Formats: sequence, C-alpha cells, structure tokens
Amino acid sequence: MKFPKMLTLGVIAGAVGAAAVNNRTRPRRAFLPLRPGATASALVTGASAGLGAEFARQLAAGGYRVTLAARRGDRLEALQQELLDRYGMESDILVADLSTDAGIDKAAQHIRAMDDLTVLVNNAGFGTVGRLVNTDPVRQQEMVHLHVLAVMSLSQAALPGMTARGGGAIINVSSVAAFSRMPGNVNYCATKAYINAFSQTLAAELTGTGVRVQALCPGYIVTEFHDTSEYTRFNRDRSPGFLWLKASDVARASLDALGGSRVIVVPGTVYKAAVMLLRTPGIGPMANRAAKKLR
Ligand SMILES: NC(=O)c1ccc[n+]([C@@H]2O[C@H](COP(=O)([O-])OP(=O)(O)OC[C@H]3O[C@@H](n4cnc5c(N)ncnc54)[C@H](OP(=O)(O)O)[C@@H]3O)[C@@H](O)[C@H]2O)c1
Repeated sequence: MKFPKMLTLGVIAGAVGAAAVNNRTRPRRAFLPLRPGATASALVTGASAGLGAEFARQLAAGGYRVTLAARRGDRLEALQQELLDRYGMESDILVADLSTDAGIDKAAQHIRAMDDLTVLVNNAGFGTVGRLVNTDPVRQQEMVHLHVLAVMSLSQAALPGMTARGGGAIINVSSVAAFSRMPGNVNYCATKAYINAFSQTLAAELTGTGVRVQALCPGYIVTEFHDTSEYTRFNRDRSPGFLWLKASDVARASLDALGGSRVIVVPGTVYKAAVMLLRTPGIGPMANRAAKKLR
C-alpha cells in the first residue's frame, strides 16, 4: 500500500472516530414548538419534492402552518392535501420560479406579509454535470439566482419580522460540496460555499437577536435531484449504499440541530468525517479525487 493511501485511510478512521464521539456527546434539545397551541408558520422553498417536502411534513407535524413554494403547483397541491389528511394542518401554496427576479420578488413579498414566520427553509436547488465550459450558460446563471440571490433575498425579507418578534430560524440548504473544489462541479461547489459563508456571517450578525441561522450540508440524499436529464449518465449504484441518506433523516437532523448553537450542520457520521478530511490541508485534494471517482 502506498504511503498517501495509508495516510488517507488513517485520517478517515480517525475522523470517523472523532465524528462519532462528537455526535454521541452533544445533547439534543427540541427547538420547535409542538402542538397543541402552536401558532407559528414556516416557509419551505423546493417543497414539491425530496428534502423540501420532508421539511414541510416535519414542520406540519410539529404544528406549523407551512407555505409550500416551488414551480410545480400540482405537486404542491398534492402535498397540501397530504398535510391536511395526515396532520390536520392547513398550508399555503406559493408558485414561484426562484431562478428569476420576478419569482424571487414574489416570494419575498409573500414572506414580508407573513406575520408569524418562524422558520424559513431556503432549500430549492439543483445540480449540473460537466465542466463549466461545456455546460449551458443559462443553467449556470439560474443556479446563481436560485442558490445565491434567492437565499440572500428571502433571508433579508424574513429578518425584519423575525428580529422584531425576537426569534426564528433560517435554514439554508447547502451541501458537503461547499467544502470541496471538485472539477466538473464548479458552480455548484461555489454557490454552496457562498451559502455557508453567508450563513456563518449572518449568524454572527444576528447574535443576541434570538434568530438562528443554519447552513445544512448533506451528502448524497435519495431524492429526485439525480433524476433530471442532466444526470442521465450518473449511476447511483456506483456509490456505496451507506453514502445515501434518507431525506426524512436529513430534515430531522437539521430541525433537531436548531436546539443547539451550530451554524454548519453536517448530517451523518460518514459525511462529518468527509468534511473533516476536506478541511484538512493536503488531504482535501486527495479526497476530492476519491469523491470524483464515485460520480
Ligand atoms: N439530493 C442530494 O444528493 C443533495 C445533496 C446535497 C445537497 N442537496 C441540496 O438539497 C436541496 C434539495 O434538493 P433535493 O435533493 O430535494 O432535490 P429534488 O428532489 O430535485 O428537489 C428540488 C426542489 O427544488 C425545487 N426547485 C428547483 N428549481 C427551482 C426553481 N427555479 N424555483 C423554485 N424551486 C425550484 C424543485 O421544485 P420545482 O421543480 O417544482 O420548482 C424541487 O422541489 C438542494 O438545495 C440541493 O442542492 C441535495
């Protein structure tokens, strides 16, 4: 075995151990007001599928009236009915394309008009495959709109109400890609890194206001993310099963973490270890190469 490979395995083992201990010793406190008697509301972008739909389910189960935002209104209507049937909770629908200025303005106006918005989940997102030079420039611009401008503008719209009421939480869905610099994923890595920097800096600015900010950094999740035409050559089976997280577990880890003080939240021991590796000088590039082989 070559030395760098041994070193990498040693660091992985150490990082997994450290992450597991870290995981065990942290106390969990519930953040969400639970029924009966809760009157808070929430807004989830990208609620028509995957992780966003799971956030909406868990927030509704916790007594939140959720505004479900995405482009596909029929999907949102089906989820609205499900939340009513399963949890007896009313919800609202906001059809908006958050990759456009008009869509972002529409969502921001909706947020400003909510008088008890307690949790904002900026979740909508997508990925592309291939080197920047070969990908559609319009798709890359849409990604910057969705991952950067929408996250910033909707947070800004939510803050006056949350700070005036002395509490609330903004969850910005990022990715472990925020810590990687992986060729073939340039704009995704860059926009998710923006989300982390934005969330950490905003959290610092909001100290003492009662408003929490989280950058949720999952690894692979079983959702529709990899089912688009852009991912036709992506083979899920090439990545080991233990790398695939369940959307319900990721949403639960995020909401549970609102009871603590972490801004960067990485669900799952394997991905906590991966992030520790990616942040280790000299190891990050090797980890990037290993991760690229799994794509
Ligand atoms: N799945 C993974 O492996 C993974 C890993 C790390 C991070 N993430 C992040 O997790 C978040 C949720 O993704 P997912 O895995 O749940 O994917 P998904 O199942 O494909 O869901 C994506 C959601 O985003 C919405 N969306 C996409 N473009 C939009 C637009 N222009 N305007 C408004 N909404 C839009 C989609 O709704 P409409 O199409 O109806 O608009 C959909 O509800 C994303 O930010 C993603 O980057 C995913």
